[in-house]
Amino acid sequence: MTDKIIIAIDGFASTGKSTLAKRLAKHLNYIYVDSGSMYRAITYYALTNNYLPFNDTNLSDFSKKLPSIKLNFVFNSNLGYSEIFLNGNNVEKEIRSIEVSNHVSSVATVSFIRKHMVNLQKEISLNKGVVMDGRDIGSVVFPNAELKLFLNASAEVRAKRRHSEYIKQNVNVDYSEVLNNLKTRDLDDSNRHDSPLIVANDAIEIDNSFMTINEQLIFVKNILKDKFNL
Ligand code: CDP
Repeated sequence: MTDKIIIAIDGFASTGKSTLAKRLAKHLNYIYVDSGSMYRAITYYALTNNYLPFNDTNLSDFSKKLPSIKLNFVFNSNLGYSEIFLNGNNVEKEIRSIEVSNHVSSVATVSFIRKHMVNLQKEISLNKGVVMDGRDIGSVVFPNAELKLFLNASAEVRAKRRHSEYIKQNVNVDYSEVLNNLKTRDLDDSNRHDSPLIVANDAIEIDNSFMTINEQLIFVKNILKDKFNL
């Protein structure tokens, strides 16, 4: 039997990391972990409990609160992947709002929050057999991951994809607002002091601007077959 591996998928905002990760997890019968949803859920908590914008006082209060905030993933058999629960409530929909998107990257710069998230991510993955996507998965969370992928696509292609997701969900957001949010987050994520978004030196880079979801999946499945016999 082949040993289970860890697959780390990093990349810029809305590069289709979760779409690829979900399909790979299904293909391999692995767990899928959306690390971005953890940062989003914490941001949603901070927003709805009036911690934002952070200042010295409420940041100190928040650091005391953080260990008691319950985040967990629950497998949804209808969808075929896990959804995130915050203090017992499914918040998948709430955490994708443009308001959360506009605050998440600043929340994700806070070192004690990152440390807590990374610990949770390592705990979830103790038995390997995990596909995790995010910004620092191949560089910080799992520097020894057996397979690291780094996804990219042009900002306009990414904004079009994210905007059409919003339209499908009947969410009224301008394309320009989506594009601005992606560009701002890319900049913030790449320039932050703690765990910036970087291409790990052993990562395989994929620009999927002109690839379909299926073409990209086949490309990665071939890597799995060739390198790991999976
Ligand atoms: O789906 P999308 O690419 O838009 O973003 P996401 O994966 O939901 O992540 C939302 C934000 O969380 C990112 O823009 C980062 O600021 C932060 N994040 C992070 O700092 N580290 C991670 N491992 C995952 C997300």
